[in-house]
Amino acid sequence: MTNFLSVKDKVVIVTGAADGLGQAIAKCYGENGMKVIVSDINVEKGTQTELEIKELGGEVRFFPADVSDEAQVKKLINFAMDTYGRLDGIVNNAGISADNRPMHEYSLAEYERLMSINLKGVFLGMKYGIEAILKSKSPSGFVLNIASMAGIEGNSAMGAYVGSKHGAVGFTKTAALDYAKYNITVNAICPGTFRTSIWGDASEEVIQQYANVFSPNGRLGDSKEVGYLALFLASDLARYINGAVIPIDAGSGAGKITPVTWEHPEILE
Ligand SMILES: NC(=O)c1ccc[n+]([C@@H]2O[C@H](COP(=O)([O-])OP(=O)(O)OC[C@H]3O[C@@H](n4cnc5c(N)ncnc54)[C@H](O)[C@@H]3O)[C@@H](O)[C@H]2O)c1
Repeated sequence: MTNFLSVKDKVVIVTGAADGLGQAIAKCYGENGMKVIVSDINVEKGTQTELEIKELGGEVRFFPADVSDEAQVKKLINFAMDTYGRLDGIVNNAGISADNRPMHEYSLAEYERLMSINLKGVFLGMKYGIEAILKSKSPSGFVLNIASMAGIEGNSAMGAYVGSKHGAVGFTKTAALDYAKYNITVNAICPGTFRTSIWGDASEEVIQQYANVFSPNGRLGDSKEVGYLALFLASDLARYINGAVIPIDAGSGAGKITPVTWEHPEILE
C-alpha cells in the first residue's frame, strides 16, 4: 500500500523510548498501527509509556534493556521475535550526553561510558536487529539511527558525543550498502536542538538562549516532529531513501547566519 497505512502491523523496536524523542517516535508508530516494542533502562517511565500508547489505541509491549549490554540486547530482539514472530524495523535511539569540556579534560571513564551507550549500543542494535529482520524476510525492513547534527558537524567541547554520533553515521552509511539488496533501508536522523530531558535541569532562559543561537527560526524542535520523520522513513513511501543522513534542525546545519537589515521590513506589516 503506497501510503502511510503501509506501516500498519510492522513490528518495530524503539530503544530509549521511555522519554524524549524515542517516546515521541514510539507514540507516533503506535498511533499509526505499528506493533511497537518500547525499550529502555527506565522501567517506571517505560511502563508509563506503554500505558500511554495503549490509551492511544496502539499495540505495544515494554521490554527493559540496556543497549550497552549485549546479553540484554539479544533478549530484547528475542522478545520481539517470540511475541510477534517477526521484526521489521529497529530505531536505535537511546543516547546520553556528557558535560561539555575540551578533549584533554575528558576522563577515559567518561568517554567509555558515553561510547558504550551512543556507539556500542547502536552497533548491538544493528547487529542483532538486522539479523532478526533478515530472518523475518521482511519485505520492507528498516533501521533508523538517531544520530545528531553532531554526527555531521563538529561541536566545541563535545568531543566524545560528536565522535559517537559521527560513528553512528558511519555505521548507517555502511549498513545501507550492505543490506540494500535484502529489502532493508538504513538511515540516520540528525536532530538539531529539541526540548527533552537530555537538557537536565537547564532553565527555560538558558534553553531559549540556545534556541536563539542554534535555531534559525528561534525555537527548539518539538519531539513529535522527529516522530513524523521516523514514521515517513518506516513507511513504504520511503523505500528509495537509503544511507541518508537527514538533518531535522530548522536549517541550523545549512550554513552560517550573517546579520542583515532588510531594506523593506514593511512587507511583513
Ligand atoms: N534532544 C536533543 O536536542 C537531541 C539532539 C540531537 C540528538 N539527540 C539524540 O536523540 C536521542 C534521544 O535523546 P533525547 O533527547 O530524547 O534524550 P532523553 O534523555 O530525553 O531520552 C533518552 C532515553 O534513553 C534512555 N537510556 C539512556 N541510557 C540507556 C541505555 N543504556 N539503554 C537503554 N536506554 C537508555 C533514557 O532512560 C531515556 O528514556 C539520543 O541518542 C540523543 O543523543 C537528541
